[in-house]
Amino acid sequence: MQELRDKVAVVTGGASGIGLALAHALLREGMAVVVADIEVAALDAAVADLASVGGTVAGIRTDVSDFNSVSELADEVYRIHGACHVLCNNAGVGAPSAKVWATTPNDWRWVFGVNVTGVVNGILAFVPRMLDAGHEGHIVNTSSPDGPISPLPSASVYAASKAAVSTLTECLAAQFQADGVALRASVFYPSGGLLRTGLWTAERTRPAELARERPRETTPMTPESLEEMAKQAGRELRWQPLDDLAHLVVAGIKDERFVMMLDLDQTAETLRTRAAAIEKGELPVTMSHPG
Ligand SMILES: NC(=O)c1ccc[n+]([C@@H]2O[C@H](COP(=O)([O-])OP(=O)(O)OC[C@H]3O[C@@H](n4cnc5c(N)ncnc54)[C@H](O)[C@@H]3O)[C@@H](O)[C@H]2O)c1
Repeated sequence: MQELRDKVAVVTGGASGIGLALAHALLREGMAVVVADIEVAALDAAVADLASVGGTVAGIRTDVSDFNSVSELADEVYRIHGACHVLCNNAGVGAPSAKVWATTPNDWRWVFGVNVTGVVNGILAFVPRMLDAGHEGHIVNTSSPDGPISPLPSASVYAASKAAVSTLTECLAAQFQADGVALRASVFYPSGGLLRTGLWTAERTRPAELARERPRETTPMTPESLEEMAKQAGRELRWQPLDDLAHLVVAGIKDERFVMMLDLDQTAETLRTRAAAIEKGELPVTMSHPG
C-alpha cells in the first residue's frame, strides 16, 4: 500500500513502547490512528502525547485476549472512521523466565491469551470487514526473534507464543495471496539490540485471575538493572531506537514486505546454522539473537 495519507490505522498495545512509536510513525504519514490498549492511564497519556504532535488520534481501551473487546474495538473504529486500512496486532506480554516444568498453567493462559489469541482476535474482528470493503489493507503482526528465529530456552512460554504468531501470519499472508485479495500480512520482528519498553515490566498488566500459581524464582530485570550490571562489567549496552523500528514497519507496508526486521543477514546466518543442526537430527545450538 503506497499511499497511507488519510487512511486509518489501528495499533494494539499502542500505549507504550514499540506500539507508541508505531502510532507516532503512522500519524506522521498522515493516517488517522486508533490506539488500543488495556492500560487506561497509559492510553490517555499516549493519546495526549500523539495529539500534541497533531493529526487524528483516538484511544480505545481494549483487552486483546477477549474477542468481544476486540470486536467492540472494530465496531468503534468503523463507527468513527468507516474503515481500517492498517491493523498492527502489536500487544504482547512475557512471563517470568522458568524451566518449562516450572512454568504454571496461568503463565500459558496469560501469555498465549495476549500474544496468540490477541493476534487471532484482531484478525477475526477486522479482516472480514476489510475484505468486504475490497480496498487495500495491511495486517502487521508483532512477533519476536525469540521463538521463530532462535528460541531462548529460559523464555519458553514467550518463545512458543511468538513462534505461533509467525506461523499464523505466514498462513494468513499465503491465504491472501492465494485468494488474490488486496490485503497483505507481514510479520514484524523487533530487533537490533535491547529495547527500552514496558515489556520488562509486563507483569503490571497481568490479570489477578491469571496470577502465577506459585512465586517466581527469578528476579525481574529492568533496563536500569541491566545497565547497572553492564556498568559493573565495564560494558556499554546497545539500546535500539524504537523510531527506527517504526520506520521499518512503515517502509515495509509501502513495499509490501512480508518480513519486517533489522539485521536480516545475521538472522539468515542463524537460521542456516539451525538448519544444519536439524539436517543432522541434532538439537540446534541456542544462538544469541538481535531481539
Ligand atoms: N521489547 C522487546 O525486547 C521486544 C522484542 C521483540 C518483540 N517484542 C514485542 O513487541 C510488542 C510490543 O511490546 P513492547 O516491547 O513495546 O512492550 P510494552 O509493554 O511497552 O508494550 C506492550 C503494550 O501491550 C499492552 N497490553 C498488554 N496486555 C494487553 C491486552 N490484554 N490487551 C491490550 N493491550 C495489552 C500493554 O499495556 C503495553 O502498552 C510485543 O508483542 C512484544 O512481545 C518486544
